[in-house]
Amino acid sequence: MFPFREGYDFPRNQWYVAGWSNEVTDSGILERWILNEPVIFYRTVDGTAVALDGRCPHRNYPLGKSPLKNGKVECGYHGITFDHTGQCVHIPTQVEIPAVCSLRAYPLVEKWRWLWIWPGDPAKADPSLIPDHDEIRITSEGWLPLQAFTYEVQARAQLFNENLMDISHLTFLHAGTIGTAGVASTEVEVIDQGRYLRGTRRIRGDALTGFFSDVLKYHGDIDREVLIDFYPPGLHVAWEMFMPLGSLDAAEGSRPPSLGEYRVHHAVTPATHHKTNYFVAFSRTFARDEQSVTDTIAAVFTDVIAQDIDAIEAIEQMITQRDAAPREVLVRGDRHSIFGRRKLEGLFDAERASHT
Ligand code: FES
Ligand SMILES: [Fe+2]
Repeated sequence: MFPFREGYDFPRNQWYVAGWSNEVTDSGILERWILNEPVIFYRTVDGTAVALDGRCPHRNYPLGKSPLKNGKVECGYHGITFDHTGQCVHIPTQVEIPAVCSLRAYPLVEKWRWLWIWPGDPAKADPSLIPDHDEIRITSEGWLPLQAFTYEVQARAQLFNENLMDISHLTFLHAGTIGTAGVASTEVEVIDQGRYLRGTRRIRGDALTGFFSDVLKYHGDIDREVLIDFYPPGLHVAWEMFMPLGSLDAAEGSRPPSLGEYRVHHAVTPATHHKTNYFVAFSRTFARDEQSVTDTIAAVFTDVIAQDIDAIEAIEQMITQRDAAPREVLVRGDRHSIFGRRKLEGLFDAERASHT
């Protein structure tokens, strides 16, 4: 459980999703906590999205409660003003501007509709380290990507990371919608692909729930492949591939055409040690021009995610209300989550080693 051990903290030299492009405008300031720091977001007059420290260095006033005037942040407490680089440009009570009176500026990249932030050393912020949006089927040909949900969850991010790598819970927490008996009873195969950690379940002869039958317009049993790719530190790409019964055992090259595929993109970004920013997008190959299918998927996932959040917040309470963090009894189905923990620990350890 997070923290994995004493002294462990979030890896900072990493890209995290901070929000959506359409949340950030040139007419006001969005404040969001990222890795235990307040961060403000807005657009300059030329439309560039920027991210700055959200704490005024004068008297700690939250700049998220301050106005944006002509592209500059004017602290709502005593009027000290900062430009888009974080440089102080005006102090109402004096002419001289001390060098320490400035805001940290965070590297920020807009890719598709996501804003990616780098909370660590700006010199190491290489945008090529952001997951490839073609590879994750957001910008690739033949896929319909959709911005879906934004939540602030009252629980530590690692509970969400492990929920997403532990899909045996689908059978029970999401029974009747995305959960079927075959998910929990099928062994997960975990493969480290370097940039991501893949958990695969190949489910033979699964029953389609009513939701899947509706959106796929297919009735009867199927084969189903469910993959979760974890791109550390916080992106999980869930694959669902539906195929006619018997496809998984068909010889390579003689598989019948797939019934459809979709991806759910879950971005998990720690807000504080006990609060999490959670952003969800979808993409799919089927019925791309049918709004009713989009609406059905959105409605079902609204309920599914509410079930996840309810479970995770309840676990957070269960952990924090005890004097000491309780131990966990881990089982085979936890393999993916445990490999994911090791990945995150490895990132943190490597970062710490580079500082010594
Ligand atoms: S606290 Fe911001 S100007 Fe005083
Ligand atoms: Fe879930």
